[in-house]
Amino acid sequence: MSASLKSRLLELLLAHQDAPVSGQLLSSQLGVTRAAVWKEIQQLRQEGFVISSATNRGYQLTQAPDLLTRELISAFLPERTAPLVALEEVDSTNTEAQRLILEGAEDGLVVVADHQTKGAGRMGRPFLSPAGVGIYLSMVVEPHCTLEALNLLTSYAGLAVCLAIEEHTGLRPAIKWPNDVILEEKKVCGILTKLVSDGENNRISHAIIGIGINVGQEEFPPELRDKAISLRQAGGEGFCRPRLAATLIQVLDRIFFEEKWLQTTPPEALEQLKERSCTLGREVLVITPREERRGKAVDLDCWGGLVVDFPQGRETVTFGEVSVRGVLGYLPQ
Ligand code: BTN
Repeated sequence: MSASLKSRLLELLLAHQDAPVSGQLLSSQLGVTRAAVWKEIQQLRQEGFVISSATNRGYQLTQAPDLLTRELISAFLPERTAPLVALEEVDSTNTEAQRLILEGAEDGLVVVADHQTKGAGRMGRPFLSPAGVGIYLSMVVEPHCTLEALNLLTSYAGLAVCLAIEEHTGLRPAIKWPNDVILEEKKVCGILTKLVSDGENNRISHAIIGIGINVGQEEFPPELRDKAISLRQAGGEGFCRPRLAATLIQVLDRIFFEEKWLQTTPPEALEQLKERSCTLGREVLVITPREERRGKAVDLDCWGGLVVDFPQGRETVTFGEVSVRGVLGYLPQ
């Protein structure tokens, strides 16, 4: 089967998931015989797709394999034109994206992997990225925005993750400022944004937004057990990773390319960030290379900075690490 016929058939089956679609309709839309459609359906079944068929009713796709392949993710994104690189294994999708930028990667390029051997977290920490249970994804964005607006990259990506998870699982995650997505006070997703500067003009030419989501883990190593959670453990439904990855890409596309939030900073974006924050209203420990200070997080400023009431007065925090009391192992005293 040619790749394009298979992809087109898959797209049609995905578009008709609510009700069976007749072999006749499939054959006329694809321009092949009904026997050819049957043969392709058989091949898809062998690849792990569950497709029911009933005489006079047609075919219905009831389950897709849980594989992060380009073909499968793209089938959920038929209109998307920016390149998608899907890898079984890579050191880090962020590093791969950086290599591809040097080769001239275009705006919107996405790298997805099933497994990372050197998944990177913030502050030089590793990000555990086992095969078969997570989504490790990096998107390249040419920001074309002010320096202040760059601070919003990670916050917007966190919001996109929340929206994608909500759409698929019915769970309602929160954002721990600035880069963790939280369920049941534990981390379900981490985000690491890297800025790439254009050596000649000394400006930020690209941002790489790296997102790691724990999807299917049944347990974590002892050192992470109190801090990490997967969608499966949180009891959401709909763990089809290619579908979730596709929805996430769709939301990121909308935010960064269609509605251009980095350039327009719409007030409703800030409202949504505030609504989903699990940091606001809580006691926080703000850790910078110079000091650690306790205060209460009270607001987000228009560039996504965290407004904190310290004993010495109100300040806006724009970088460093912020621990939130009661979240991710920061215990009440
Ligand atoms: C953190 O929690 O400290 C950030 C974790 C970011 C992990 C993602 S997974 C995809 C991308 N590739 C990486 O190596 N890191 C990010």
